[in-house]
Amino acid sequence: MKKLIALILTTLLVLSCLTACSSGKTLADIEKAGKLTVATSPDFPPFEYLDENSAVVGIEIDILTLVCEELGVELDIQQMDFDSVLPGVQTGKYDLGASGISVTPDREENTLFTVPYCMAAQAIVVLKDSAITCKADLDGKIVAVQTGTTAEEFCMGAGYDVNAYTANTDAQQALLSGKVDAWVIDDLTAADMVKLYNAENGETLVVLSEAMTSEPYAFAFMKGSEDLAEPINEVLKKLLDDGTIADIFAKYEAPYTAPNAG
Ligand code: ARG
Repeated sequence: MKKLIALILTTLLVLSCLTACSSGKTLADIEKAGKLTVATSPDFPPFEYLDENSAVVGIEIDILTLVCEELGVELDIQQMDFDSVLPGVQTGKYDLGASGISVTPDREENTLFTVPYCMAAQAIVVLKDSAITCKADLDGKIVAVQTGTTAEEFCMGAGYDVNAYTANTDAQQALLSGKVDAWVIDDLTAADMVKLYNAENGETLVVLSEAMTSEPYAFAFMKGSEDLAEPINEVLKKLLDDGTIADIFAKYEAPYTAPNAG
């Protein structure tokens, strides 16, 4: 009898965990907490980076500030390496992931995404006098990427010799110190980081003009969080339609490509 009760209790426990674990986040969860907890890797200007006071700022922070205003909750930003953002969201530790995250079919298997709000592409960064001038020149070369990114996936797929770094700044440093021949990173971030570096150190780095991919950026949730994603999608659609998102890009002097423009 005792064994039977234990068995029933265990089954109930497993069932309730399965429901709870697979149910995702709801708007009510966020309202109850009074905040939207956002996982981000702020090494990705102009989307999220640290300003001179070490505050996290950027395009995605501006967008999420407006989203939180609409939802009537606080924006709670949690900083981490990029390769911890999606796992943290997928396990429900954080409500939303914001890190210039590209929507890919692989990620969609374990993640729920909002509507995309812009398009981006992978770009090649090299030292000024490099012999590498286009994608074809990368064959047989050592390429730096950030761990867990679509740049890593793309470069591995292309068969390059890949060196992965947890922080974007380390990938940049590997190129500067000659450890690698090129650095592959999303175009707008490449442009910003190179502009900043060259402004302080003279013309050292060059972003090649060839776009290697076309990737929509969106915000990420734990699977099953439709109840939370829906109201956020509504706000995003409004901000896309009324030009607010394009204005935010302009504020950061970043060229804007709308998601449906491919
Ligand atoms: N868009 C790329 C991806 O989704 C890179 C994102 C890197 N983000 C960051 N905050 N470092 O994989």
